[in-house]
Amino acid sequence: MTLVDRANYCKHNPYQDRPQSIGFAVTISAPHMHAAKALDVGSGSGYLTACMAVMVGPKGKAIGIDHIPELVQMSIENIERDQPGLIKSGNIKMIGLNSIYLITSNSHSFVEVGDGRLGYPEEAKYDAIHVGAAAPTLPQQLIEQLKVGGRLIIPMGKEGGNQALEMIDKLADGTIKRESVMSVVYVPLTDKESQWPGR
Ligand SMILES: C[S@@+](CC[C@H](N)C(=O)[O-])C[C@H]1O[C@@H](n2cnc3c(N)ncnc32)[C@H](O)[C@@H]1O
Repeated sequence: MTLVDRANYCKHNPYQDRPQSIGFAVTISAPHMHAAKALDVGSGSGYLTACMAVMVGPKGKAIGIDHIPELVQMSIENIERDQPGLIKSGNIKMIGLNSIYLITSNSHSFVEVGDGRLGYPEEAKYDAIHVGAAAPTLPQQLIEQLKVGGRLIIPMGKEGGNQALEMIDKLADGTIKRESVMSVVYVPLTDKESQWPGR
């Protein structure tokens, strides 16, 4: 976004991060509204989440999510060593498995966060979602959390079976287009106990 000079697109206060009139009863949106958001499901070491944060730039945000708390802690340390400041500035947010007490108008309940199969609705919707583990079925929550025009990259298939890396685009009418990009071998997107029962 810094490569496109907003002064060529609106006459008044082009460098303020606020909407500005462009006449005809309409506005150009605030730049931060266009900044990209990316979700990295199964963030492991944090490497790809850090890459995504660099790609979305200082106005964007990358969220990494993993269900192994030790990995989340390790990924935070890795990122702080390599890209100091990206977590503190809010450009990267790392989410681990946890229960939060949710109060809505008619119910109180504990809900689980950190299971990547559920995505991370608190920060949705996303321009890009990457899943770093193979899903036996397409997690519908991830589709719901994708923006129109957004793209989901996900390995699909059973553990040890035929797996394909799929590229899934959300179209303007809300439907999806699926394309198999290549054959792959990934560890499964599963529940924490199946992956690591504390061995
Ligand atoms: C192949 S590793 C991904 C490596 C990662 N891209 C990196 O840069 O290090 C797969 C990751 O998916 C995580 N994972 C598997 N199932 C998950 C689930 N249901 N929710 C969250 N993370 C999950 C694993 O703990 C593991 O860290």
